[in-house]
Amino acid sequence: MAVTKVVIPAAGLGTRFLPQTKVIPKEMVPLGNKPAIQYIIEEALEAGIHDFSIIANKDKQALFDHFAPYPDLEKRLAEKGKLHLLDSVKRIHENSTIRAIEQLEPLGLGHAVLQAQQVIGDEAFGVILPDDIMLSAVPAIGQLIAIADTYNASVIAVCEVPQEKLSSYGVIAIKEQLAPSLFQLSDLVEKPLPENAPSHFGIIGRYVLSPKIFAALQKTTPGAGGEIQLTDAIKYMMHHYDEKVLALKVSGTRYDVGNPKDWLAALNAIMK
Ligand code: UTP
Repeated sequence: MAVTKVVIPAAGLGTRFLPQTKVIPKEMVPLGNKPAIQYIIEEALEAGIHDFSIIANKDKQALFDHFAPYPDLEKRLAEKGKLHLLDSVKRIHENSTIRAIEQLEPLGLGHAVLQAQQVIGDEAFGVILPDDIMLSAVPAIGQLIAIADTYNASVIAVCEVPQEKLSSYGVIAIKEQLAPSLFQLSDLVEKPLPENAPSHFGIIGRYVLSPKIFAALQKTTPGAGGEIQLTDAIKYMMHHYDEKVLALKVSGTRYDVGNPKDWLAALNAIMK
């Protein structure tokens, strides 16, 4: 499965970070000298992706302003010979296409991904959730792309989750272990009660998906929390379209920067 495009769903409300996120989207919260969203784009660029669709709403214009060219600033930095800084402000817009796709209402992560159908067309694609910052030697999305390519399958990233926290995750049921960190799935359960969880592996914010997901999303009705869940559509694709879905325990450390505590941990790790 060759992957050239990444979808970044960023139209959520960011309630866990209120009131900070009233005006400044959570994807723009700084981690050192860069906003969280920039780590996501850089991770994907490092994995060879140059085409990004950010699913957003009208209050998230700052995301697109951040990556837009700033000719005056760039001219001044060039005149002053501040080439390192110049590179830091123009490297991304010179090397990528960042397109805005509007989600008119926050109807769920699955619904957000569905908004990218026209742009993605009939290709496998990556999905990166901007809340999940991954610090790793090999870019996390690149780890998934390599597996998707080798096994010609959809791949989702997972991590081991303590029993008492499983109810905050989509949890995988394992059909077969294919390698020490790689599993073929038999099922997925969104936010199970800990005693009903089919494994201790929770889904985190990296996916490589077959375009069959769009047909599955169109058939998906609101699930947990009244939202159209991406995990329900992955499950549908697996059971009704015979799509092989693998889960990779990615190498690296993950920080859920959508909540202030983990954001601070990420900041400490980055500034170390
Ligand atoms: P979350 O539920 O974790 O994020 O969605 P949220 O709703 O923004 O934040 P909280 O929970 O209220 O603090 C996971 C991802 O899916 C996107 C979010 O932006 C986030 O990246 N999302 C969620 C959408 O793009 N649209 C939606 O309708 C829901």
